Amino acid sequence: MTTTVTTAGITTATITTEGITTTGITTAGTSVEDIAFHYDLGNDFYALWLDETLAYTAAKWDGIPRDEPDATALPRAQRAKLDHHLDLVGAAPGDGLRLLDVGCGWGAMLEHASRGDRVGEAVGLTISPAQHAYLTARALPGAEVRLESWEDHAPERPYDAITSMGAFEHFATAGMTRAERLGGYARFFESCHRRLRPGGRMSLQSIAYDGVADGSGPLGEFVGSDIFPGAKLPRLSEIAAACDPYFSVVALSASAEDYVRTLASWSARLLKAREEAERLVGADGYRRYRRYLRGSEVTFLRGAATLYRIGFLRRDEPLRLPA
Ligand SMILES: C[S@@+](CC[C@H](N)C(=O)[O-])C[C@H]1O[C@@H](n2cnc3c(N)ncnc32)[C@H](O)[C@@H]1O
Repeated sequence: MTTTVTTAGITTATITTEGITTTGITTAGTSVEDIAFHYDLGNDFYALWLDETLAYTAAKWDGIPRDEPDATALPRAQRAKLDHHLDLVGAAPGDGLRLLDVGCGWGAMLEHASRGDRVGEAVGLTISPAQHAYLTARALPGAEVRLESWEDHAPERPYDAITSMGAFEHFATAGMTRAERLGGYARFFESCHRRLRPGGRMSLQSIAYDGVADGSGPLGEFVGSDIFPGAKLPRLSEIAAACDPYFSVVALSASAEDYVRTLASWSARLLKAREEAERLVGADGYRRYRRYLRGSEVTFLRGAATLYRIGFLRRDEPLRLPA
């Protein structure tokens, strides 16, 4: 099968099943095929209901009035989130630091960084061929995008800082035991430790289970099979245990509300664009995404899941923890 992807006339990617399966990408988490199932549905489709930044993770809404029109409110909240992550990694104006963005999506952080002077050089990793093709065609100044898993990334020089938003949910899969998940998460933190300079900082944004033990139940099963196959949410205790040898946690905030408002905005945008969405992904595709966005809003509202933003400081030497 061959899929052609275009976004706002900017790029075209031709993806064949062979092309996806033979990219040589290593991942113990969500497979390349499952990533393509979700993220390669069509750049134009996502552009219909994401805002102009194409950020596909919760925005940061503090101080944004509820009556501000969505057209300005969502992009403002998304840029506030990106600035918050640059704050978490200690990027000051004029620093021009070297940044790695793990799971860069359609490049929200890469573009934000390329507009200011806090970051001088940014590398983004994605394992979605459609996102990679989109960003390659955009050729953002000072940014490099790689179709590469964090497992395979071998930079020539260490980074000053690492950000990662909405990718950690893909670093384990539903079939894994807790021990296997912890092992995978620990490998991720170990690799970030290796890729950062001494004193380097990292920020992470991830959804996590909160009020429930796991994703069982009709909505969780629907999202697990029809929307995000092969993904698995962590718990905060797992993130804390896995990072412990390598990083000190220096900032932690939780906001289910930030996802509620973001999902409500995406949902309303998708509803408004229904006709075009159905043309791009069919009536069934449109229905699936509306159900996922509305259902996820309820998940956050009832406290079954929450959103964490975590700031980390690299430990000079990994700790030897008692077994
Ligand atoms: C929800 S999107 C988030 C995109 C972006 N950070 C944002 O905030 O808009 C998740 C991203 O994680 C990437 N990803 C998933 N597994 C990955 C892996 N093993 N290595 C690198 N990127 C990965 C996907 O390709 C996708 O770009």
